[in-house]
Amino acid sequence: MCGIVGYIGHRNAYDILIKGLKRLEYRGYDSAGIALSENDYRVYKCKGKVSDLENQTKDKDISGRIGMGHTRWATHGEPTDNNAHTHKSMNGKFVIIHNGIIENYAKLKAGLQKEGYKFESETDTEILANLIEFYYMRNQNGTSFSPEEAVRSALKMVEGAYGLVILCEDYPDQMIAARKGSPLVIGIGKDEYFIASDATPIIEYTNSVIYLNDDDIAVIDDKGLSLKNLKNIPQKPNVHKISLELSEIEKNGFDHYMLKEIYEQPKAIRDTYRGRLNFESKFLRLGGLHNIFEDLKGAKRIIIIACGTSWHAGLVGEYLFEEFTRIPTEVEYASEFRYRKPIINKGDIVIAISQSGETADTLAAIQLAKEAGAIVMGVCNVVGASIPRETIAGVFTHAGPEIGVASTKAFTAQVTVLTMMAMSIGLANNGLTKEEFTELVNELYAIPEKIEKILDKSEKIKEISDKISNATNSLYLGRGYLFPVALEGALKLKEISYIHAEGYPAAEMKHGPIALIDEKMPVIVLATKDKSYDKIVSNIQEVKARKGVIIAIVTEGDTTIKNMADYVIEVPKSDFALAPLLTVVPLQLMSYYIAVNRGCNVDQPRNLAKSVTVE
Ligand code: AGP
Ligand code: GLU
Repeated sequence: MCGIVGYIGHRNAYDILIKGLKRLEYRGYDSAGIALSENDYRVYKCKGKVSDLENQTKDKDISGRIGMGHTRWATHGEPTDNNAHTHKSMNGKFVIIHNGIIENYAKLKAGLQKEGYKFESETDTEILANLIEFYYMRNQNGTSFSPEEAVRSALKMVEGAYGLVILCEDYPDQMIAARKGSPLVIGIGKDEYFIASDATPIIEYTNSVIYLNDDDIAVIDDKGLSLKNLKNIPQKPNVHKISLELSEIEKNGFDHYMLKEIYEQPKAIRDTYRGRLNFESKFLRLGGLHNIFEDLKGAKRIIIIACGTSWHAGLVGEYLFEEFTRIPTEVEYASEFRYRKPIINKGDIVIAISQSGETADTLAAIQLAKEAGAIVMGVCNVVGASIPRETIAGVFTHAGPEIGVASTKAFTAQVTVLTMMAMSIGLANNGLTKEEFTELVNELYAIPEKIEKILDKSEKIKEISDKISNATNSLYLGRGYLFPVALEGALKLKEISYIHAEGYPAAEMKHGPIALIDEKMPVIVLATKDKSYDKIVSNIQEVKARKGVIIAIVTEGDTTIKNMADYVIEVPKSDFALAPLLTVVPLQLMSYYIAVNRGCNVDQPRNLAKSVTVE
């Protein structure tokens, strides 16, 4: 949630902040604000987009070599001008921006009110601004209690998550950053520093970055950067060189990031298996698992934890692991797993799947699993994110930055990683024969080209989408490996077109949802050839008998369903275990075209944010 950008250096901060906030708007976009510091600090903020903030500041004083900006995803207090960040403390000594939630804000607020503090907003963030000021001003009687010490004293009182950037009126040439649970990256330029929620606003200026760890407090001023933790112990800044290119985060001629990322899937899959799967020698090695591979091979149980689309990828993983490795596998919503009293045995393998690597519930579930003695690994798309740093092993998806809030290429890259994991473990523990493994290697190699063939049919898929764009409800049905794809297709439609959609195992339709079907209900059926094909044909007949509008995703050359469905989209033949990688693409495109037809904001759907870093 929310995007944070900070700058301290020799340039005018304003342009850097505005451009950076626009790059981060996918993380949260209900209101925005900036603070600029040059001897004093000026604050501008408003409800709405970064472009609204730009309009508001057109004729204002936007000078200042130091500044910070925030694009918000509200948790405490509606999106209003007043609740937008930045937030000033009551006496104006501090101004802060914040990503996260202060869980004990009510208690802290009551304590500050007893000390005479008044509040202007409904946010938890403003409480933090006043708490820092409270400690700062209480210790000004002669002692040189620095802003950093005031920040440290205040943060020790805080329960919850924060990524913070802080300016102090008395130290106009200084910027403080602090992190616990919400990501912050510091970019190191030549005599200048950049702070951001992720690297996308930074990479056009420098590729040297420091990922702040939990409890870090960084102070940046003309003497440079100092890094300590909450215990005031100096921390050694760990400088990384990132390889992200600017072109990877531009739209490159596509109308929306989501469409660009749908079309990037062949490349994302090739990049994900490149260097890991050798198609000539049929050799597969996932380097990030070498330290736990024996544990994986001998595992008694695999638990997959994730949220949203990543959870759907995990469901595909369940089918893959159980079929290829015969290891019992279960998939858990991270948010449920962390609050249930789950049975976790020492030696259990826990796989945390996350595109952003910052999802709060997934991070919390990781902690629970680690405390219970499980072996916890990650499948993540962002190098340097929290989840890769919290797990002892893992496999990165190489999908490139995913900017569209609706996840697409990350899903297929995650399924590619899970497929390679299941193949590798299955070959090692004899769940797969060498022949089966070799066949799967060839099948996986062919997937990107098959996706390209599906993308070539986008015009036909758009024509079908145009016909159902006014639907108010829809049903997605699939069996086996395609049941998770039905769920994913329904989620895509819901989150970007706001049409209510449900995904169901096709056979489950008769246990209730069939009551919903009428001539106004589009029913999207995933029906590629596999052992349960005849069953799904029967399901289609049941839908047809109730006049449902049938859109079937079938294997190329299928004539049976072609004569039954209202609309048919053909995908190339593949091993059924790899069918999710193909059948999800028409569903992604359909949801995209329908959302565009409905005038929805495809890349930044209402109420959503790209990375759910709060509970
Ligand atoms: C997917 O389209 C959604 N944007 C959302 O469900 C997302 O998959 C979920 O929030 C998990 O995010 P993560 O993969 O970054 O952990
Ligand atoms: N909890 C803060 C608020 O509601 C920050 C939300 C965010 O991370 O954008 O303003």
